[in-house]
Amino acid sequence: MTVPVERSRRVVSATVDPGFPALKDRVIARTGHNYYEDKDDLLYDRLRKRMRTCGVADCAAYQSLLDGAAGREEWPALEAEITIGETFFFRYAEQFAALRRTILPELIEARREIRRLRIWSAGCSTGAEPYSLAILVHDLLGDALPDWSVTILGTDLSAAALATAREAEFGPWALRTLDTEERARWFRRTPVRPGLPHGGYALRPAFRRMVRFERQNLLTLIDGSDRTQGGFDLILCRNVLIYFSADHVTRIVRALGERLNPQGWLLIGHAEPNPTFSQWLQPVALPGTVAYRPIDTPVPPPLPVVMPALPDVVPILVAPPPAPAPAAPALDLPELPLPAPIPRPAAAAIEHPLSPGDLLAEIRVLADAGETARAWRRLHEEIDGYATDSPLRYYEGLLALDLGREREAERALRGALFLDRGFVMAHFQLGLLLARVGRRGEAARALDNALRLAQGLPPETILPEGDGVSAARLAESARRALAGITGRNA
Ligand SMILES: C[S@@+](CC[C@H](N)C(=O)[O-])C[C@H]1O[C@@H](n2cnc3c(N)ncnc32)[C@H](O)[C@@H]1O
Repeated sequence: MTVPVERSRRVVSATVDPGFPALKDRVIARTGHNYYEDKDDLLYDRLRKRMRTCGVADCAAYQSLLDGAAGREEWPALEAEITIGETFFFRYAEQFAALRRTILPELIEARREIRRLRIWSAGCSTGAEPYSLAILVHDLLGDALPDWSVTILGTDLSAAALATAREAEFGPWALRTLDTEERARWFRRTPVRPGLPHGGYALRPAFRRMVRFERQNLLTLIDGSDRTQGGFDLILCRNVLIYFSADHVTRIVRALGERLNPQGWLLIGHAEPNPTFSQWLQPVALPGTVAYRPIDTPVPPPLPVVMPALPDVVPILVAPPPAPAPAAPALDLPELPLPAPIPRPAAAAIEHPLSPGDLLAEIRVLADAGETARAWRRLHEEIDGYATDSPLRYYEGLLALDLGREREAERALRGALFLDRGFVMAHFQLGLLLARVGRRGEAARALDNALRLAQGLPPETILPEGDGVSAARLAESARRALAGITGRNA
């Protein structure tokens, strides 16, 4: 049997390198990334990249390097390599709705006398999460902001992610749930530069200066060496706990709870709650999500804890499966001829080694690591094998957009719509793209389609491929984008 060269090399190398098990234990002990316990190939791949860069031949030599003087610089490089920094602005819309409607207004009211807010985004990656919080606090405090002392601290293990966070310049991928008006309000366009071949979006200084970043390993919370002061009003630690062992998770959550003010709030990733947390924290159900508060905070009568219907992306970042197409209102489909599905022999699909979900996971990992060009090339290489998969065509479009390849983006988004007319996010992104290139009539039609489809769904429905965006929020964004094009009132 012929095994693809790349695959066989990977598996064999992890298995035969005698120094691998000890190095793996070391890496897991230092980072807490129990996630790699059963992922030797993946970990080995990442180690191998660093070994190549350092010019060492095997794991034993690499471990000696880490233990020597060079370890000071090499550990952060390795940590950056093995962490997965998936993040984007206003990730998981229900939690941000809860922050905007309940948590922050309540905190602002409670702190009105002392006019001080302390917020911590633990495991903040490249900063989209603490910056989203800064935008919210800025909006909510309005003209009163200068009278308040607001601390928003972002911490992460990855020094590379923090360096990007401090720059506060993002590609469209990190802004993918924002509409044109939000992008213009919170960011300014920046020129082309390496890594951002079609320019980026720099967060406006008013929000940027509200956030401070520090390197911190969450394991220090449980080994006693943490130097973070307590007294936080709000802590977010989302999509980080998934890396750790169950024991570490409970100890970290307990330690985070101990760093909250008595009236404080803790938000964790919406796939991460665990009944054991209620030993130290009380869960509070909010629409579509659950938050935690110190056990003795008086809260309104207990509500049943309702877990959200769909999980957020977890390390492997598989997008939720497409929901059944809604009973669609008559659609005004785009005028341009729809592309024919890419022809390919039917048998090839059966032979293909990756499921669409696996391929999507691989693509998202690359894109989230800032390697959108590689992700797009990878997807483009493979797309023939997945020509009937509308989410993959959609992501092909998003990646092409990120790279400024507008024609390819349009083709891919129309391809996704050809396969699934009820694909709200594809109508929406197509509308934004067409508006950007000045094709107002077609843009208005695509946005109208998105609006009508979204309005036809229960408002709280989380849209497939919408990264947590609800039908109501998408409808609002589509309405605003339409108003920008047509001059109609939003
Ligand atoms: C998937 S990102 C989540 C980013 C953000 N919280 C969000 O939900 O959008 C996970 C982040 O956790 C960080 N991380 C992983 N292990 C960590 C540790 N031991 N201490 C601190 N941060 C860690 C990673 O570097 C990565 O940036």
